[in-house]
Amino acid sequence: MMQAEPSDEIEISTIVNDAPVTRRVKARQHLADFLRDELGLTGTHLGCEHGVCGACTVRVDGEVVRSCLTLAVQIDGRIVQTIEGLSDSGAIAELQVAFLARNAAQCGFCTAGMLLTAHELISQRAAATRAEIRDFLSGNFCRCTGYQAIVDAVDEVLRRRAGT
Ligand code: FES
Ligand code: FES
Repeated sequence: MMQAEPSDEIEISTIVNDAPVTRRVKARQHLADFLRDELGLTGTHLGCEHGVCGACTVRVDGEVVRSCLTLAVQIDGRIVQTIEGLSDSGAIAELQVAFLARNAAQCGFCTAGMLLTAHELISQRAAATRAEIRDFLSGNFCRCTGYQAIVDAVDEVLRRRAGT
C-alpha cells in the first residue's frame, strides 16, 4: 500500500507489462518519466507534457491514459501496459504490420501512442468509417504523415477482421 514518507518520496507497487515493480517515487513525478527514467521503457514518448499530443499514451487498468498527466503514485496497485508490453505480447501485431505496409510511421515519434489508441479502437469496435477512425485518433498528433496512411492502416485492419 501507498505510504507517505517525510522525504517527499512514496513507495508504490504496480504491475508493468506483466512484471511486478516496487519503487520509491517523488510525489510529483509523472508516469511518463517514471516509465522512461526508472524502468527504461523509452517507447513511451514525451511531446507536449500537457495532455495535448498523445505521444505519451499508455494503458492503466486497461484504459488508455496520458502518462504525462498521470502521477506515478497514481499507479500504485494498478496494472500498466506500455508499447513494449503490447508489442511483446503480439496484441498489436496486426496494426504494426499494417502501419509498416502503409508507411504510417515516418519519424516514429507519435507511433507508440498512435498504436495504443488504434488498438483501443479496434478492441472496442468491429467497424468504423474513415471519419470515425480519424475522430477516434484525433487526440494523437502526427507531424509527419498527414494522417492518411495511419487511417489507411487502421481501416485495413478493421476490414480484414470483418472479412470485407
Ligand atoms: S506528452 Fe502527454 S499528451 Fe503530449
Ligand atoms: S510519424 Fe513523425 S510524428 Fe508521426
